[in-house]
Amino acid sequence: MVEEDIPAALALWQGLPGIGLRDADSPEALARYLRRNPGCSFVALTEAGELAGVSVAGHDGRRGYLHHVAVAERFRNRGLGRELVEHCAAALKAEGIEKINLWVKADNAAGLAFWNRLGGRERRDILMVSVITGDNPNA
Ligand SMILES: CC(C)(COP(=O)(O)OP(=O)(O)OC[C@H]1O[C@@H](n2cnc3c(N)ncnc32)[C@H](O)[C@@H]1OP(=O)(O)O)[C@@H](O)C(=O)NCCC(=O)NCCS
Repeated sequence: MVEEDIPAALALWQGLPGIGLRDADSPEALARYLRRNPGCSFVALTEAGELAGVSVAGHDGRRGYLHHVAVAERFRNRGLGRELVEHCAAALKAEGIEKINLWVKADNAAGLAFWNRLGGRERRDILMVSVITGDNPNA
């Protein structure tokens, strides 16, 4: 995934209830994320250059993170989501990162089923806590 893919990725994410977009998903912020994590995020493109799927990944030197894994509806159930995640996992592994954390909306049963098929383990021992340090409640 390169910066030029960001508008198409945003267009895909915007229509999907399983994906939550915040101000942190502005094109500028996403470009910064890609620059900080080069080679870790991937897109699937058709021969015509249409974006079929996307998986954003990065790490903080310690743990890997996956964000906004999505496949356009007409390209689903043919292994694309799995392949995108495997590419991200391999890129993170090459940087010495062997554990990846990610967030699934509590009402996204299909998303959770996908992660289960990919070997993900739901954590029931942890709650996510967010602290907003500025004035923007949609940060
Ligand atoms: C989740 C999503 C990325 C899956 O993409 P996909 O390309 O259809 O997934 P794949 O074809 O690679 O499926 C991989 C595995 O997950 C399973 N799977 C995929 N969608 C599933 C679903 N809705 N319910 C149950 N299992 C599912 C597949 O059967 C497959 O299993 P297998 O490899 O063991 O046979 C896609 O449905 C999507 O974009 N959903 C909306 C966005 C979203 O919720 N993303 C997750 C955010 S946490």
